[in-house]
Amino acid sequence: MKKITAPVIRSMKAERQKIVMVTAYDAATARMVDEAGVDMVLVGDSLGNVVQGLPNTLPVTIEDMIYTTRMVSRGISRAHLAADMPFMSYQASKEDALRNAGRLIKEAGAESVKLEINEDYVETLYSIQKTGIPVIGHIGLCPQSVLEMGGYKVQGRGGKEARRLVNLAKMVEAAGAFSLVLESIPRSLAREITNSVRIPTIGIGAGPDCDGQVLVINDLLGLSPEPTPRFVKKYAELREVVGKSTRAFIEDVRSGAFPSEEHSYD
Ligand code: KIV
Repeated sequence: MKKITAPVIRSMKAERQKIVMVTAYDAATARMVDEAGVDMVLVGDSLGNVVQGLPNTLPVTIEDMIYTTRMVSRGISRAHLAADMPFMSYQASKEDALRNAGRLIKEAGAESVKLEINEDYVETLYSIQKTGIPVIGHIGLCPQSVLEMGGYKVQGRGGKEARRLVNLAKMVEAAGAFSLVLESIPRSLAREITNSVRIPTIGIGAGPDCDGQVLVINDLLGLSPEPTPRFVKKYAELREVVGKSTRAFIEDVRSGAFPSEEHSYD
């Protein structure tokens, strides 16, 4: 079994191998997706929406991310493990950014960190990667800017904004990121960015021309409440399975059918 490192991910673009990334928030799920063969597991700050029941990612703390990443790291043998830097763990100062990126590596077992980036944080990204920590940039729809955006909206529509994102992608590459997440942008713009940088792009709601794709595991498994975004493809309907199994358990307990002889000790 060959461990997937940041340089391996980077080289996959030149080798035209599509990169597959999913999120995970616990060791059991991490083990299953690692064994299934994903290339990268991301402890996303989507933790806030998906696990913590929050309306957005803004309240997620660095302590939440360290706790969760530590659990996920115990389930992973082969995949590359990336962790999100949550809101306000890198924005206030470069010192905060270095300290918190370092904590995700040292205390939680992450192998890279991901930052939602605009022009103001390119230097921060550069400083983190200079310490030897591999960094993933995230541009397009950046959920940590939900208040500023006024909702979750497709980004990069219109010539000026599209130009800005192409330039930003080049700046992120020049600052030393080893890959770039593109979220919720038009397919044609994602293709242009992918063709403009040498680092791999990993899309979510960015069409099929990126170098890889990422989905939130709960969306992929059909565990998320409806409506899910248009870019989600459900590969299972686990909400239905959980509901059906739980209703069957309730019925069995209430009727006395469970536990039976077979589930009882002599
Ligand atoms: O927080 C997250 O899960 C993410 C991915 C959706 C890319 O940033």
